[in-house]
Amino acid sequence: MNKRIFSGIQPSGNLHIGNYLGAIKNWVKLQNEYDSIFCVVDLHAITVPQDPEELRKRTLEVAKVYLASGIDPEKCSIFVQSHISQHSELTWILNTIAKVSELERMTQYKDKTKNKEGVGMGLFDYPVLMASDILLYDTELVPVGKDQVQHIELTRKLAERFNKRFGETFLIPKPYTTQASENIMGLDDPTKKMSKSAASEYNYISLTDTEEIVRKKIQKAVTDSGSEIVYSDDKPALKNLINIYSLFSDKSTDEIVAMYQGKNYSEFKTGLADIVVNFLKPLQKKMKDLSDEKVLAILKAGAEKVRPIAEKKMKEVKEKVGFLN
Ligand code: TYM
Repeated sequence: MNKRIFSGIQPSGNLHIGNYLGAIKNWVKLQNEYDSIFCVVDLHAITVPQDPEELRKRTLEVAKVYLASGIDPEKCSIFVQSHISQHSELTWILNTIAKVSELERMTQYKDKTKNKEGVGMGLFDYPVLMASDILLYDTELVPVGKDQVQHIELTRKLAERFNKRFGETFLIPKPYTTQASENIMGLDDPTKKMSKSAASEYNYISLTDTEEIVRKKIQKAVTDSGSEIVYSDDKPALKNLINIYSLFSDKSTDEIVAMYQGKNYSEFKTGLADIVVNFLKPLQKKMKDLSDEKVLAILKAGAEKVRPIAEKKMKEVKEKVGFLN
């Protein structure tokens, strides 16, 4: 049997080009080589408050992005996390071996809770739920953006600890990242990653943004001092824009710099906007052509395909920990 990959995205806000370039673009490539499972992680989404109707809508929308990007439901399983109850069940058991101190070290948790009061338990426990997602399916590789690698390292630790205590049960997964999954940074601030939960909509380009909005956001993107198009660490804003250009055009950063020699920021930004719009237009058209009913049917079929794997693993876990059958 082929090696298995598993990954997921939260339906908690507008999916942006960082999600696509960091994760989905790699999935599309990997689906031809691996037994692939892609999840819409709604249980993760509710770790921050969600409007119920909006959550349902976004769950379908994330699945539409997967499909419109080229994830093929004939080759892969696409499903919704809450449709397989074993994710929550395994989380409880892994909670009993996870340590508070190791969860407190998670960078994403620290970032999301900085200067906040009354932080919910779910946000703290979020990486354990992610570990359950991965471990339930004997996943070998987890294709994600760099910001999720720490969570996969924790997953490995939990799997090793469980195996040591109860005997070989879980496969130890590895993260899969490429240069493309390096963080895509915010357009308004190149020191912070592009994020669905950013305060300003000028931080990200949403996959559903119109041409007009994309052009406006790119023209408004912060740039560094100077006027030449150069790719260097001391020009982080420009470097990020060139990275985005490169990933959407499959041109190297050197080629792009050469193309824009003697040209100014404004010309470069117009070129970048053209590239992004040319990518988004067909994606949005495909999303529009997918009916909610069709997508729901694909998600239900996906859940039925993966359910036996999750059930088998959970049965084994329950036996190992000593639950009465
Ligand atoms: P989420 O929903 O925040 O992001 C989904 C994917 O997009 C990547 N990503 C980025 N990549 C590059 N640049 C960025 N600015 C950027 N922002 C986001 C993320 O790395 C991720 O791959 N906990 C996960 C979802 C999850 C999951 C899993 C992933 C739940 N269970 C099991 C893999 C396996 C999350 O919140 O991703």
